[in-house]
Amino acid sequence: MESILKEGSDDGHGSSGLKRVLNVRDLTFFGIAAIIGAGSFSSLGDACFKGGPGVVILFVMCGIACAFTAFCYSEFASRIPVAGSAYTYAYASFGELFAWIIGWALIMEYSIGNIYVAFSWSDYFTSFLHKINVHIPDYLTTSYLEAKKTFLNYTSQTSAEQLEFVKNQANAELLNAWNNSPVVGSLKIIFDLPALIINLFITTLVYIGIKESRNFSNAMVVLKLAAVALVIIVGAYYIDPANWMPVNDAGTKSFMPNGFSGVMAAVSGVFFAYIGFDAVSVLAEESKNPQRDLPRGMTYSLVICTIVYILLALVLTGVVHYKQFENVGDPLAKIFEVKNVGWMQMLVSVIAVVAMTSVLLVFQMGQPRIWMSMSRDGLLPHVFQKIHKKYNTPSFSTIITGLVVGLPILFTDKSFVLDFTSIATLFAFVLVCGGVLLIPRKEKVPGRFNMPYINAQFIFPLLILAAIVILALASPGYFTGMFDFDYSGNADYTTNKVSFMDLATPNISLIVFWLSAIVLAILSLVKKYSLIPLMGVTTCLYLLTGMTKSNWAWFLGWLGLGLIIYIFYGYRKSRLAGAGA
Ligand code: ALA
Repeated sequence: MESILKEGSDDGHGSSGLKRVLNVRDLTFFGIAAIIGAGSFSSLGDACFKGGPGVVILFVMCGIACAFTAFCYSEFASRIPVAGSAYTYAYASFGELFAWIIGWALIMEYSIGNIYVAFSWSDYFTSFLHKINVHIPDYLTTSYLEAKKTFLNYTSQTSAEQLEFVKNQANAELLNAWNNSPVVGSLKIIFDLPALIINLFITTLVYIGIKESRNFSNAMVVLKLAAVALVIIVGAYYIDPANWMPVNDAGTKSFMPNGFSGVMAAVSGVFFAYIGFDAVSVLAEESKNPQRDLPRGMTYSLVICTIVYILLALVLTGVVHYKQFENVGDPLAKIFEVKNVGWMQMLVSVIAVVAMTSVLLVFQMGQPRIWMSMSRDGLLPHVFQKIHKKYNTPSFSTIITGLVVGLPILFTDKSFVLDFTSIATLFAFVLVCGGVLLIPRKEKVPGRFNMPYINAQFIFPLLILAAIVILALASPGYFTGMFDFDYSGNADYTTNKVSFMDLATPNISLIVFWLSAIVLAILSLVKKYSLIPLMGVTTCLYLLTGMTKSNWAWFLGWLGLGLIIYIFYGYRKSRLAGAGA
């Protein structure tokens, strides 16, 4: 830790070349800027459709898991206030290989996540333009893959089904894009131009510098919070409490019309809404007093956003019946469309564009800073830590980030990148919390964040035991059901279709979760672990059980690719390899 600190931090003025300009308010704003975005404006609709009003429970669960994780990030941030975030923490606690794995997973959170946000940004931007009567051709506002999928889906239907299919406006636009696009050779020219333009704009802004980015971001956050508050207040006026106990397909009234599994099915989208509080930690080298302010910034932003989400979810599911959110990509505008409040619809579109711009900005700033740290350790080429002489920003890494976000916009689609981002981020959170379990306890230092130590020796095993007993009594088939060969966990929650991996298998992720919980309970008995990081590991592992098998397959493939790169580059070139030679 000491040698990491020597390089990255300085107690003075940036030996790393980055400017120390951020205070606790800026950091809190950065957190909010990163958190409230596409998750709340876009994927919340699907989450409400799957979970019904009960989705509020998932927001609380994710909020709790993120709070434990934020404590762990804070503990690390107060010990190692340098720019690499979870990557650096893993480097200090697990060593080089794990650090590489986490750095590799974080590319998903920061860059791939931004692809989802850029797509959502484009959706809202385009619909805003429609409202003011500006029309961009559909083939310039949609992804090639989505248009192609929709076309193939359409052609596989009977003519009666096709008539129904095109009644959905989104489907009609995608088909229009496919049928009317210009063709070069045999290639249809279909791409999301606004998503590309916003990426170019953000990359330029981040390249120019932290101070400029901060001013821009702070202004957007104030606007965003004020407007979300307005949505909650105006929406609250239209709440009909009967919608909180809707009638489901089976004809029963329930707060969770699709049961708890319906609620858990929404985990990718809900968790995505929380991603971002951790991004605050990459600003360690640009904040004035990182040891005190990073933990505060993270905690404040997380608490504010959790409250906002719970209220938003209650308003949304209170104003309309949960089923009305089927295939709705702009749920906040939708409730006002149903209630015929035109001015709010317009306002929500504008806010969504603003909110998502700030998310893009924060993540696009985070990625280069992580790469910079990885490069310092020799896991990436030296050029990744190059700082621009005039702007004092990691210039090369910023441009590469722009390309990593921008190029896939041409050949991926929204649903694919959403799940990918959530699974990788949860994985990174598990490792960060696990890292805190492994580092030695420290003396309390006044003026810094000090994680309270609560001895988990007996509490944690008792909690796990109680959970097992309660579940076994309340839901007798729960534990045996995990071993049944069925399709659960195969469904692609974004499309509600069984994925390409439609193999009947036991519920592997749930089995792994319970085994891990038991092992952790035994270890905590022996090693007297600290309760907060232990709960962080456990709650994040639990949320991972909501991921589909195809998500796991893609994610493990991505990790495999990372390992190959490590073996051929990092393992040979890193500083540790040099030190050993
Ligand atoms: N939480 C961020 C968003 O919802 C990633 O856009």
